[in-house]
Amino acid sequence: MVTNGVGRMRVDPIGPLKGELTLPGDKSITHRAIILGSLADGITEITGALRSHDCRDTAKAFGTMGVTIEELGNDQLRIRGGGLHGLKEPQEVLDVGNSGTTMRLLAGVLAAQPFFSVLTGDRYLRARPMARVTVPLRSMGATILGREGGNFPPLAIKGTHLRAIDYVSPIASAQVKSAILLAGLFADGETTVTEPSLSRDHTERMFEAIGIPIHRHGLSLRVDGIKQISPFQMAIPGDFSAAAFFLVAALVIPRSELTLREVGINPTRTGLLDALQSMGAMIEVSRRRIVSGEPVADLHVRSQALHGTEVTGDLIPRMLDEIPIFAVAAALAAGPTTIRNAAELRVKEVDRLAALVQELRRFGVQIAQHPDGLTIQGSTSLLGCDCDSWGDHRMAMALAVTGLAAEGSTTISDPSCVSSSFPDFWEQLNATLPGTAVAVEP
Ligand code: S3P
Repeated sequence: MVTNGVGRMRVDPIGPLKGELTLPGDKSITHRAIILGSLADGITEITGALRSHDCRDTAKAFGTMGVTIEELGNDQLRIRGGGLHGLKEPQEVLDVGNSGTTMRLLAGVLAAQPFFSVLTGDRYLRARPMARVTVPLRSMGATILGREGGNFPPLAIKGTHLRAIDYVSPIASAQVKSAILLAGLFADGETTVTEPSLSRDHTERMFEAIGIPIHRHGLSLRVDGIKQISPFQMAIPGDFSAAAFFLVAALVIPRSELTLREVGINPTRTGLLDALQSMGAMIEVSRRRIVSGEPVADLHVRSQALHGTEVTGDLIPRMLDEIPIFAVAAALAAGPTTIRNAAELRVKEVDRLAALVQELRRFGVQIAQHPDGLTIQGSTSLLGCDCDSWGDHRMAMALAVTGLAAEGSTTISDPSCVSSSFPDFWEQLNATLPGTAVAVEP
């Protein structure tokens, strides 16, 4: 079913989504567990790990630096960490594929190593801004070179014994915050990072869960240099960002009803629930519990009529990765929806504001872009079309949901790009539908 970067996926609107689903493990949390497990002293065991290209790229990078990471059955990883100072100089360039999280968080770790390393990625990642991490890491003492003054990969890093900084980040970015916190674990003294509004807080929660001291004060975080990380056991919750595609699909496709089990509902990630609620959606949240320091629940959703809304301000960082699928909900709601303060979308895997405008227009959606957002005029009648995923996993999945809600067939280019975050997306989507709705074009 999943193609290898070639071919197109055909999506036919064949009816409601029904049943129960367990989503793959959270991508952000899996990256962090692999990084901290690799730096721990001994054997760390992770269950529910996401086995996507991006997370494998993180594991592969630590493998190149001498850490043994075994993939066991049932989404389990066993990591033999060599300690905070156990990494070996990589003999080759660390190619982290499409994964921005890997590149930016790893830059924080590599800045503190007594060796030279080079980070690169695919053509999409090589076009993404890195100054947001290279500037603060240089001020901690690391030497980092890259294209255009260190803003674009490849990045060449000569690590050193770091000094602590007090950094006020101009953007609410968990990748920036986490890169500095990871570097701070190796630095002399207290490192502080402050963000303008709260981005996902998985790094902070994981530090707390595995016994790394971290102090939160408003939007500021403080860590001290430490001597050791103890190995840990961790269960990773289902990825809310993966659940988002099914939540919206079930809302907009008539007569749908889905239960999504074991989904992470960390409030720094669930802005989409608030946004959908403001459009009139009712999503039941049940069996709330805490797993490895992260809130988890089951979500139950039925198809419902939605109306337009406005999303802006502090809500945006809480639904950053969900804007593509939120735009699809808006395209099928009654009345206009406005998204503002979302300029960060322009430097994601692709410029997602431009991609959404171009692709949703093909379905007949009235959509306009602003420098920092979109205005979408909702409608109930979309027309299937041939559209382009732009090689972006979240665009491909959002377009698949649009296709299921449109009249007639839709085809989507480069469908295998979903492997970055959700390798089984097409299979799981088919499993909730009353027949084969998505199929590779012959
Ligand atoms: C992530 C942070 C976000 C998000 C990305 C994953 C993370 O990026 O968009 O998919 O795991 O820290 P930014 O930090 O660039 O906002």
